[in-house]
Amino acid sequence: MATVTENQFVADLIAARQPGYSLPGAFYSEERVYRAEMDRIWRRGWLFAGHCCEIPSPGDYFTMQVDSDSMIVMRDDEGEIHAFWNVCRHRGTELCDQPSGRIGRIVCPYHQWTYARDGSLLTCRGMQEDLDKSRLGLRSTHVRVIAGFVFISLAQQPPPFEQAAELIGALGQPQGLERAKVAKTVDYDVAANWKIVWENNRECYHCNVNHPQYIKANFDHYNADDINERVQAKIDAAVTHSEEKWSATGLAVSHRRSGMTRFPDVERNCWYSANRTPLVEGYVSETMDGKQVAPLMGDYTDADVGTLRIRTMPNLWNHSSCDHGVSTRLLPAGPKRTLIRVTWLVDSAAVEGRDYQVEEIMPFWQLTSEQDWAICEQAQRGVESSGYLPGPFSTYKEYNVDGFVRWYLQQLALA
Ligand code: FES
Ligand SMILES: [Fe+2]
Repeated sequence: MATVTENQFVADLIAARQPGYSLPGAFYSEERVYRAEMDRIWRRGWLFAGHCCEIPSPGDYFTMQVDSDSMIVMRDDEGEIHAFWNVCRHRGTELCDQPSGRIGRIVCPYHQWTYARDGSLLTCRGMQEDLDKSRLGLRSTHVRVIAGFVFISLAQQPPPFEQAAELIGALGQPQGLERAKVAKTVDYDVAANWKIVWENNRECYHCNVNHPQYIKANFDHYNADDINERVQAKIDAAVTHSEEKWSATGLAVSHRRSGMTRFPDVERNCWYSANRTPLVEGYVSETMDGKQVAPLMGDYTDADVGTLRIRTMPNLWNHSSCDHGVSTRLLPAGPKRTLIRVTWLVDSAAVEGRDYQVEEIMPFWQLTSEQDWAICEQAQRGVESSGYLPGPFSTYKEYNVDGFVRWYLQQLALA
């Protein structure tokens, strides 16, 4: 819990921020800011934990570290997914020290109190007989599963989830991520504050130089200042073509213009977003040459479905093509460090080596991600310098960075 002095420190920092400018350096390096973020953002909102297909069978689990809270996300015998604090109800020992696995019971390594897959306490040998076991099950928290995405909230009273579920459910349903399997997972330990990573994600000002492969597939890097008639005609043609074709299958284009869709939306305090966007002509998948590299996913009957993009603050973005999806999950590990997991998903029936090659699915987002992490680490080193002063955002190209910063400050101000 933050102290009065810490609260004042954060309030003063928020007040000192100049609108339209990047944040002062303390936001990216100060422990007091980080502590406030953990309380006011990470323990308050909905966090993307993983995909339900990562734990398909009873007893499958993975652990997830949110600041000092390790969580166990586990499927029980009825198929329901739970999120437990990874803490024994006897004297608090951490229960699972593995990143993932499958277990019949959760057994504490200290004195062997034993819990069922739904968290209830089964045995606690050596304890007095009148101990009420029903009051000593694992502490669990809120879980929502939507379109294959598992979200948890550590808050006692989490924010409403229904509208996010409606949007992500409607757009995500045809992708069939709940019927997917993990083709590959890569974990990155990035030496940058989690906001630096989001600020990078929220603009494509850097794309022309940093992402030569990404810009071949997408229109994102064009904005109001550099669009021309020729490019606009290409976007219009892609949208018209897609609208005509997709409307027959119930898919709708939900992003039609140059530039990135607005997110997060601070005016509506909107922490989620989903849209379907056409790719450039000749591309049916976010792959190096734009070609399909795995069997169609979900309900798709045609490869030409553009990209489905789903994002939730503070820790998920997913781009899904006709044949694979890629989810990026952020977890801060201190003010100057972010643990990032990138997961590639394909249809559950696809067989590696026969239906797809991991080497063909991965490079597009692996390169894009690693290019971003490198520039984020460099940005972090710069904003930690005593020579750093906040600089102006481009209204053409960084409106979403500004939106992110305003959303972030709004959350942080809610002490
Ligand atoms: S601390 Fe877990 S059984 Fe004692
Ligand atoms: Fe990038």
